[in-house]
Amino acid sequence: MSGRGLASVRSFWKRKNLRDGRRSRYVEVEEVSLDSLRADAVENGLVDEVVSVIATGKEADVYVGLWKKIPLALKIYRLHKTPHKKKSAIGYSVDLMGQIAANEFTILEKAYRAGIPVPTPARRADNMFTMRFLGDETNARRLKDIDLDKPEQYAKQALGIVEKLLDAFIVHGDLSEYNMLLYRDHIFVIDFPQAVDLSSRPNRHRRFEDAKPLLRRDLENVARYFSQYDVEIDAPAEYDLLTTRFEKTHLD
Ligand SMILES: Nc1ncnc2c1ncn2[C@@H]1O[C@H](COP(=O)(O)OP(=O)(O)O)[C@@H](O)[C@H]1O
Ligand SMILES: [Mg+2]
Repeated sequence: MSGRGLASVRSFWKRKNLRDGRRSRYVEVEEVSLDSLRADAVENGLVDEVVSVIATGKEADVYVGLWKKIPLALKIYRLHKTPHKKKSAIGYSVDLMGQIAANEFTILEKAYRAGIPVPTPARRADNMFTMRFLGDETNARRLKDIDLDKPEQYAKQALGIVEKLLDAFIVHGDLSEYNMLLYRDHIFVIDFPQAVDLSSRPNRHRRFEDAKPLLRRDLENVARYFSQYDVEIDAPAEYDLLTTRFEKTHLD
């Protein structure tokens, strides 16, 4: 494990106790070691071994783990630490992180079943879940980090993903070149904690109204990204098309 890897594990925090019995979703947290992280993921039966760190983010870290010798991506939501208060780090509770992981995993399953190119979900336990590892010797790159050779083709794929997601009652909500990976000539979409699930009927109208700005932003992000390749995407027109169709089909 590299120094960078260890540093990321150092920022994996665990609940210690509720702050002074106050009603708060913030809790005092303590650091857990790499061994403890490994033990958690292994004890949960998600992987047999954690082998390397792919990425460390604000709320989650992503690792490569081995399960029966198969590489899997392991995403672990961790508690936040406050940079200025090292000793008494403040974070969200383990339960909340579990809830966020559960929501993301459920959306991933729905998207996968709808035939959308996402990493195949494997298993979830507590604040962590496993999915197909996209990559070969190294992990698949984000659109952000690539020079595309066939931008028109990938722009079509990206728009197709937004459309198919909505057909599956999902608005991603954080779609950008950071959350699209290119793997074997195909764009895969990842990272769904902000996604809106419109599959249940009650209040769908109101929930769709709330999701509309997210859908608009997703489309604008895609258009902005591809504009650097001079591929023009009319985001407002796409937005009108998709929302009108959804409203006609799924809202009375
Ligand atoms: N299934 C996967 N296969 C390969 N790499 C992945 C996979 N999932 C995530 N990654 C890598 O980990 C990074 C962070 O994952 P992401 O789900 O976007 O978390 P975050 O919430 O931190 O942005 C991604 O940018 C990507 O490089
Ligand atoms: Mg991301």
